[in-house]
Amino acid sequence: MTSGAGAPPRVLLVGGGGGLVGRAVLRELAPSFRIRSVHRSPVPAEAAAGVEWVPGDVASVRDFDPLLEGVDAIVNLAWYRWESPQRFRALYEGLSRLLEASARHTSVRIVHVSVPAAPTSLETGLPYLTYKRRLDRELAASGLSYRILRPTLLFGPGDRLLTVMLRLMATYHLFPMFGDGCYHVSPLSTADLARVVRQEIEGTGNGTVDLGGPERWVYRDLTDRMFSALRRTPRYVGMGERTALFVARLVVGAGSKLIYPYEVEWLMSDLLGLPAYRGLATPLEEVGPFLDRIANQQAQV
Ligand SMILES: NC(=O)c1ccc[n+]([C@@H]2O[C@H](COP(=O)([O-])OP(=O)(O)OC[C@H]3O[C@@H](n4cnc5c(N)ncnc54)[C@H](OP(=O)(O)O)[C@@H]3O)[C@@H](O)[C@H]2O)c1
Repeated sequence: MTSGAGAPPRVLLVGGGGGLVGRAVLRELAPSFRIRSVHRSPVPAEAAAGVEWVPGDVASVRDFDPLLEGVDAIVNLAWYRWESPQRFRALYEGLSRLLEASARHTSVRIVHVSVPAAPTSLETGLPYLTYKRRLDRELAASGLSYRILRPTLLFGPGDRLLTVMLRLMATYHLFPMFGDGCYHVSPLSTADLARVVRQEIEGTGNGTVDLGGPERWVYRDLTDRMFSALRRTPRYVGMGERTALFVARLVVGAGSKLIYPYEVEWLMSDLLGLPAYRGLATPLEEVGPFLDRIANQQAQV
């Protein structure tokens, strides 16, 4: 799907391009695509990159045909981290209408970012996942040219996990440790995920791919490494799974977006240490230097 010399730029429709992954995807793709980006709130970087922002809630779009006019590929990133079941359902239904409309544009290829396997209790009982899986299955059965990417825990500028954890460690000099911390994570950078998205837009194969970063960390070693980036001795407040879930519920109840109970359960399930993705020509970014950069920025605040 490359444009020839002198050919008009290819048109990309991005759903949810204003978030963490979206920022990296737009940085990677804006130089070579004309991008139409649908989401609800303005993002200054999009205008600076020449991206056309189409203000809109995907859940409320009834007719996707005008948005698909001239589109060569779609990248979907839109999802909520935490919402009511009704909101997840409405977003799923909107994205499902997008798939139906895309099927009328047979040359469109879809790259959809989903999430890796979770514990069965979450896969079957959490609207975040049940509607996501429904959409994943619909895309796989749609007859469209597609790739579903399922990255593990992501890190990158402005992420709400490792960056926030590091800031908390810098502020309080101690951190909660859920269980023994011996479960695994293999953080992947958003810049690497964006490179994979580019490669997959250009590709033709269908199917689902799970993606991990270059190193598989024991979670507790990673948090120790974060303290070391801050030049501090690791100090933890230990809590078992039940206490951790209880605390996460309290945090949510207090209106904080720091951590959600399902994230604690997923982390402790030891399903997030995915093997390193091997499909890029360049080496995957290691998390250590990223942590050092964030720690240095933190020291300057
Ligand atoms: N972050 C991670 O560690 C991680 C790991 C694995 C997989 N993923 C998956 O990767 C995808 C992107 O994640 P992210 O971390 O970039 O999320 P994010 O930062 O929360 O961004 C989500 C984007 O979706 C848009 N959006 C949400 N609801 C929408 C709606 N109803 N209509 C239109 N736009 C909507 C948001 O923009 P507006 O608010 O402006 O609408 C935002 O641009 C998600 O599917 C997520 O599940 C993330």
